[in-house]
Amino acid sequence: MESIGVVGAGTMGGGIAQLAAYHDLRVRMKDIEHGAVTGGLRHARSLFEKAVRRGKLARREADRKLELVSGGLDYGGFGTVDLVVEAVAEKMEVKRTVLREVEARAAEGCVLTTNTSSLSVDEMAEALERPENFGGMHFFNPVHKMPLVEVVRGRETSDRTVATIYALVLELGKVPVVVRKDGPGFLVNRILGPYLNEAGWLLADGARVEDVDDAAEAFGMPMGPIRLVDEVGIDVARHAGRTLHEALGDRLEPSPPLVAVGDTDRLGRKGGLGFYRYDDGDAKGADPEIYDVLGDAVPAERTSIDQREIRSRLVLVMMNEAARVLDEGIVASAADVDLGMIMGTGFPPFRGGLLRFADELHPRTVLDRTEEYREKLGTRFEPASALRRLAEADREFYEAFP
Ligand SMILES: NC(=O)c1ccc[n+]([C@@H]2O[C@H](COP(=O)([O-])OP(=O)(O)OC[C@H]3O[C@@H](n4cnc5c(N)ncnc54)[C@H](O)[C@@H]3O)[C@@H](O)[C@H]2O)c1
Repeated sequence: MESIGVVGAGTMGGGIAQLAAYHDLRVRMKDIEHGAVTGGLRHARSLFEKAVRRGKLARREADRKLELVSGGLDYGGFGTVDLVVEAVAEKMEVKRTVLREVEARAAEGCVLTTNTSSLSVDEMAEALERPENFGGMHFFNPVHKMPLVEVVRGRETSDRTVATIYALVLELGKVPVVVRKDGPGFLVNRILGPYLNEAGWLLADGARVEDVDDAAEAFGMPMGPIRLVDEVGIDVARHAGRTLHEALGDRLEPSPPLVAVGDTDRLGRKGGLGFYRYDDGDAKGADPEIYDVLGDAVPAERTSIDQREIRSRLVLVMMNEAARVLDEGIVASAADVDLGMIMGTGFPPFRGGLLRFADELHPRTVLDRTEEYREKLGTRFEPASALRRLAEADREFYEAFP
């Protein structure tokens, strides 16, 4: 591949443009705001500067690569690019309009992709004349750090399109995982959703922010779930949570503390305040005032919840959702789930992966514990039918979903 177009020069678009230029692709960015284009270029420049400071790139190389990126307010240059990544605001109508505009200007064989996190790829494809040339290319934030890219095959996406996106992901030095059909949250966010929400339910049961995050970190997660909500952005997490709830129903009913924090003006790390306090972007411990801010969503007093209990609840909801994901054919294998979770969330590799760990416990044990929580905590722990089937047949995930 020689060149790509990126529409939307914000956080993700700027990051994707820099990544592509780093790998010697010519990049044309387009936005509707002049400030966003200059911001995207500035972001790319600062990442190259950092690479030079760290001795990863010679100054001349960095300058040459940076020159591969250009941007503007029109679609100039889009007629000759090999692939386009759409990274505009997370709104279906905006995306459909942008994709139609791109399709009208791009060469016939150009592959169109969307970086959406939570919208339906199939619904976007309906706006296109050549839906076979379109698929999802879901990068994670920050683009230069996160190794995973989900390659999403829509209903109409052709094999050539999937292969082209897959090859580009490899060319960009990232790890592709193929999501075999459109679905809420694709693979990683679908499994992460119940996990983040369960962290909120733990707060609702009286756990302290630090206790929840410490338990997850002791298990091996790079960052606890509540810190992760702050990191993702409380507004973004709330939007994603709503979408998952609408699509997946009651088990994703947002936990009261996550709803309550979403109703404040706290944004998480980017705004300097969330569940934690931040000083110049660095977390300075959980905010002691957060429980007052959460009001009725948490009990008046904190209770000590056993670390093993916290960890069990957080891990079991992920395993249960992963069983559903496999059953629905969202990805091809248990190994794909594990690859996605390790590369997309930092799930501890020494556990072998989420489902390798489930197999080690054995699906029978996972089912028994999930059923115990269903009794205690309600239907969000209703065991997935695939989990039940495996347990009853005495089979493991890796054996049943090779
Ligand atoms: N930020 C994340 O953590 C993250 C992670 C993965 C995927 N995504 C997805 O990436 C996409 C972009 O997210 P972001 O965080 O970079 O948003 P952002 O707000 O930083 O950037 C969006 C950019 O799109 C531009 N834009 C809006 N309408 C446009 C139009 N009609 N034509 C051209 N440009 C237009 C805006 O001016 C803005 O510069 C969204 O779909 C989002 O869901 C975001």
